[in-house]
Amino acid sequence: MGSLPSAHFSYRASSLYCEEVALCDLASQYGTPLYVYSRQTIEEAAQKYETAFCSIAHKLCYAVKANSNLAILKILQKRGWGFDIVSLGELARVLQIGADPKKIVFSGVGKTEEEIRVALSAGVGVFNIESEPEFERLAKIAAQMHCRPRVYFRVNPDVDAHTHPYISTGLKTNKFGVDFYSAFGLLKRAAVCESVELAGIDCHIGSQLTSFEPYFDACDRLLDLLKKLRAAGIELKDIDFGGGVGVCYRDETVEPIENLVLGLKSRLTQSGFDHLRIVMEPGRSIVAAAGLLLCSVQYVKTTPVKHFLITDAGMNDLIRPALYAAWMPVLPIRQSDCPEVLFDVVGPVCESSDWLARDRVLPAQAGELLAVTMAGAYGMSMASRYNSRRLPAEVLVSGKTSQLIRSRDSLEDLWTNEIVPADI
Ligand code: LLP
Repeated sequence: MGSLPSAHFSYRASSLYCEEVALCDLASQYGTPLYVYSRQTIEEAAQKYETAFCSIAHKLCYAVKANSNLAILKILQKRGWGFDIVSLGELARVLQIGADPKKIVFSGVGKTEEEIRVALSAGVGVFNIESEPEFERLAKIAAQMHCRPRVYFRVNPDVDAHTHPYISTGLKTNKFGVDFYSAFGLLKRAAVCESVELAGIDCHIGSQLTSFEPYFDACDRLLDLLKKLRAAGIELKDIDFGGGVGVCYRDETVEPIENLVLGLKSRLTQSGFDHLRIVMEPGRSIVAAAGLLLCSVQYVKTTPVKHFLITDAGMNDLIRPALYAAWMPVLPIRQSDCPEVLFDVVGPVCESSDWLARDRVLPAQAGELLAVTMAGAYGMSMASRYNSRRLPAEVLVSGKTSQLIRSRDSLEDLWTNEIVPADI
């Protein structure tokens, strides 16, 4: 099944609660499938980073892609966090909740001219550049617009993050970052370019990292580059290590965040780069444990070889199992005496890849509610309307209070931008 994701989820009288609210009550009030988030779990995850960095010059930017709901962004903005964005849509979201543009880092390999122009007009704090043509495009547009954006260069350090290949980004075969050997030349060009201000260096080597060694390897690579730059008379202000800190879905152990921060800091100090401000862009480790997907079992289907629990949530609501074969915990909302059976938990979507969990022992029957936990990151933000299924609602729980933070799509939402030409 899986263990409880944080201290803010508990069974009380055999019923699963998020903070002080019974999940079965939320299912009756808002329907299923439903994403539910514990505010306190988010606040505490953010606090862990803040504590780890308390005596170190730093900038924390939440990676919006992990969960981009406005209410969740607002929680982090109120704590003083900046944001790591990768699209015009993410920029619009963070501006919508009143984020300080100067605290935004614009990442991503494929920034369009339009995105660059809008971000420059908005006064975005830093552009994370990932290639030579992107540098040239940004410099040209900045010159036309008479502004001088701060830039970091994302360097591909060619280190193995030992994570799922789809979310490993720091290998030389990945599309991300400027390749390590071209980086020096490009940084030297940027240092003398009048239309950008070279402010830092960056790497993001992957996601769901359960060991910090790959970060330290990447740090050492970046330090080699910083030393070469220093010899050429170029000093930077910031060093950005991206996001990537893993969480425990099943039996992974992740060291405390302090160990990462202190390890990075001591490497910088030992090499004479103590003055650099450390930037981090965590996503998953802030929101994953806070969220669960509540769903209801529609049918128990037994074939000669398998037992299936068919739920009303599918791969369109939560694609991580289908896309990465990710193991997500599944818990019954009501602990019961009904016999435990080995089930595949599947959705209603017309694909065999539409599964949420495989081979789980669950005491479930038709009509029961289940929670796929650890679903606060890359759950709703990756949801789609495939099979013309409506995007689920989202609820934020804080103590005894639950608030709707996104209503379920209406049926009309499914075709709202579609047009039937009159002559069809
Ligand atoms: N910064 C950059 C430049 C990134 O590309 C990412 C994530 C982050 C920060 C945040 O990384 P985090 O702290 O969340 O690991 N959909 C996948 C994860 C994709 C991560 C993409 N980049 C999943 O569900 O596992």
